[in-house]
Amino acid sequence: MAKKLFIETLGCAMNVRDSEHIIAELHAHEGYELTTDAAQADLIVINTCSVREKPVHKLFSELGVFNRLKKADAKIGVCGCTASHLGKEIIKRAPYVNFVLGARNVSKIGTIIHQDKAVEIDIDYDESQFAFKEFRTTTYKAYINISIGCDKQCTFCIVPKTRGDEISIPSELIVAEARKAVENGAKEIFLLGQNVNHYGRRFSGEHEKVNFTELLRRVSAIEGVERIRFTSPHPLHMDDEFIEEFAANPKICKSMHMPLQSGSTEILKAMKRGYTKEWFLNRAAKLRALVPNVSISTDIIVAFPGETEEDFAQTMEVLNAVRFEQVFSFKYSPRPLTEAEHFTNVVDPEIASQRLHQLQTRQDAILDELKWATMDKVVEVYFEELRSDGYVAGRTDNNVSVKVKGSQEYLGTMAKVKITEVSRAVAYGEIVA
Ligand code: 5AD
Ligand code: SF4
Repeated sequence: MAKKLFIETLGCAMNVRDSEHIIAELHAHEGYELTTDAAQADLIVINTCSVREKPVHKLFSELGVFNRLKKADAKIGVCGCTASHLGKEIIKRAPYVNFVLGARNVSKIGTIIHQDKAVEIDIDYDESQFAFKEFRTTTYKAYINISIGCDKQCTFCIVPKTRGDEISIPSELIVAEARKAVENGAKEIFLLGQNVNHYGRRFSGEHEKVNFTELLRRVSAIEGVERIRFTSPHPLHMDDEFIEEFAANPKICKSMHMPLQSGSTEILKAMKRGYTKEWFLNRAAKLRALVPNVSISTDIIVAFPGETEEDFAQTMEVLNAVRFEQVFSFKYSPRPLTEAEHFTNVVDPEIASQRLHQLQTRQDAILDELKWATMDKVVEVYFEELRSDGYVAGRTDNNVSVKVKGSQEYLGTMAKVKITEVSRAVAYGEIVA
């Protein structure tokens, strides 16, 4: 009987791809097959996120649950960003954990599973050219890493300490991976990095000069690639060349993530984001002008240390000016190993909650207005997911999530859909062609 692997993935798309790499390596070299039942597993892996405090607390209660339900001789491994950050502390707090593998050490998975109580969390480790074995959770959309690590020093963010310095993956490897994904049936390529439009500043070996815009051109030149998405770009590096390529290249999906974090230039300075409120508004306006159907999403942190009512009002101003199609908003959460952890001008938690509520209420109202934009329209949808309720789900080029009644046969196909019902998060429709 094949050994069984249960893997739980928390956090961002980067982690989703890291989990695919873990699965691929363990399958190819160790013969593991996936299971969705942790009680049946010979190896349980949690791929963790440490970006905010809550999921870290959850990790230890979850580990306890897995320890109780697992088979007697099954192993437990903790991978990802919390592994990088807490290291051997994890084994101290949960002594039944067999190994800890950091977010930048995924390629060592095949050896660490044989070393009891091993901790591999070297954030200088360079696996930018490691040839991982192939595995994808979905055949229709292929995640491809374009860089590892992050060179920014945002004062709230733990990621540079969990994923290390930024190194770009050679462009030939990315193009080769995209080609292979297309051969295997993918029409959509999803490029991943902590800061994608900073691509090409540093490679681990000799490499011709290729920036993100050029990389987009090269990936879009691949026959069979129909859609390209990417995350996350940084507003600071949204130069004209990049925005113009985004607008003009028909294969690039017209959905842009622009993490604002704060609308106050003062707070942006304290966060070390490198741009002002005006720069952000200017970039968003340029995008809206060049790409009329663009969908812009963002991340916002409220109640960063020192945020006054006036600072928060600036964030609300940007929210109202840009009218984002999607907003991920969070209360500031102090993180270890960050500069802001030591900031003393903290915002009262009560006020933080009020601000988050105010922002989310306003955003919901904006979405209630925006959602009508697709009503009765015919849109093109790429179907990727079968839902248990008799629907198949997909996305339009500009990232509207659309569901239609249907089954398996729609998966991996594009179809024209007439929208018949809209809500904040999803639209419903009928296939017309
Ligand atoms: N507190 C709250 N939110 C955070 N994020 C990152 N670090 C923190 C923190 N310390 C948010 C940012 C980022 C998103 C992935 O998580 O908005 O863009
Ligand atoms: Fe979480 Fe950030 Fe690590 Fe992704 S990179 S898993 S969001 S901490």
